[in-house]
Amino acid sequence: MRLPWIAKTLTTVAVLCGVSGTLLAQSMQLAATPPMGWNSWNHFACKVSDAVVRAAADAIASNGMKQAGYIYVNIDDCWQGKRNEKGIIQPNERFPDMKALADYVHSKGLKLGIYSSPGPLTCAKYEGSYGHEEQDAQTYAGWGMDYLKYDWCSAAKVYKPSEMPAVYKKMYDALKRAGHPIVYSLCQYGMEQVWEWGASVGGNLWRTTDDISDNYESMCFIGFGQNGLQKFAGPGHWNDPDMLEVGNGKMTKDEYLTHMSLWCILAAPLLAGNDLSKMTQATLGILTNPEVVAVDQDPKGVEGHRISQVGPLEVWAKPLADGSQVVGLFNRGESMNPVSLDFRDIGVSGSATIRDLWGRKDLGSFQDHFTASVPKHGVVMIKVK
Ligand code: GLA
Repeated sequence: MRLPWIAKTLTTVAVLCGVSGTLLAQSMQLAATPPMGWNSWNHFACKVSDAVVRAAADAIASNGMKQAGYIYVNIDDCWQGKRNEKGIIQPNERFPDMKALADYVHSKGLKLGIYSSPGPLTCAKYEGSYGHEEQDAQTYAGWGMDYLKYDWCSAAKVYKPSEMPAVYKKMYDALKRAGHPIVYSLCQYGMEQVWEWGASVGGNLWRTTDDISDNYESMCFIGFGQNGLQKFAGPGHWNDPDMLEVGNGKMTKDEYLTHMSLWCILAAPLLAGNDLSKMTQATLGILTNPEVVAVDQDPKGVEGHRISQVGPLEVWAKPLADGSQVVGLFNRGESMNPVSLDFRDIGVSGSATIRDLWGRKDLGSFQDHFTASVPKHGVVMIKVK
């Protein structure tokens, strides 16, 4: 219900700033809240195939993820074969029929995503889109692709960093001409302050950092490093601290809870990066907790930020559309620690009611502050009203 108003405001702001208002209004419709889905890279890397993608779609459609909002099934690097005599890109032998795969994914009520690079080669040294942007955009539209991740990689060999916005805009224009609505994901690891221009070249999301790995240090370095970028995100255009590692096995349950909580407070795109066909109930529970996912998908579309830090104890907050705030009490220390929220830090004076979002229970009313015992590398995520 709030969206038309937000779209109108965004358009006005964009026109005043000299950015195409239509462009932002269109982006807004495609990614009014951060995109959710799955991506093949973190778990399968170059072992991705038609069968792997179908299995992911089957899992999402049947295990509750679709109902939770996970819609995009995204093929990352390594799907490409060679170009034919007309220059049209062909998938490799692991993808016998891309159109049929898209039809299959669409038949489940899901959307399919693809990956390329503006350079001659992708990061895994497969064929990139350099010199074939228009053709590739047409091919993706013909297959029915709904999402493109466009990864800088070898573009560094053919373009100067200052050309980046124009290079990304070129593909955006080609995608628009191709005519199939497509979420546009910029991936250039946060170079050239992409958050300042990503939306103006049609990006719905842009990576802010280098690649995540499935370990606590990498996840923390990226996630807790996002503070300050919140002013660049909003409906239609999001900071992307990279895909989820939840369920890939190298972090503890508390560390994955920290990962998911932080990404939701950051209004980050939620792209599961694990093998959905072999996931534990615990992993599924982390990915689909409705109250936590709702924080990420809140229609106000505000990215949260750090409100206090005492050594390894960090408190982050995100305002929601209903006037409440979600607060993450994070313990990056090596033992159990009490972590406190001072209500004044989120502009609340006096008393407030608190709900524990992972525990899914009301904790009651508190005066001036709230303190929780938080396990090592863990989090307590609360909603404060
Ligand atoms: C880069 C990207 C990753 C992934 C790989 C694929 O490293 O940042 O997310 O797409 O390329 O080669």
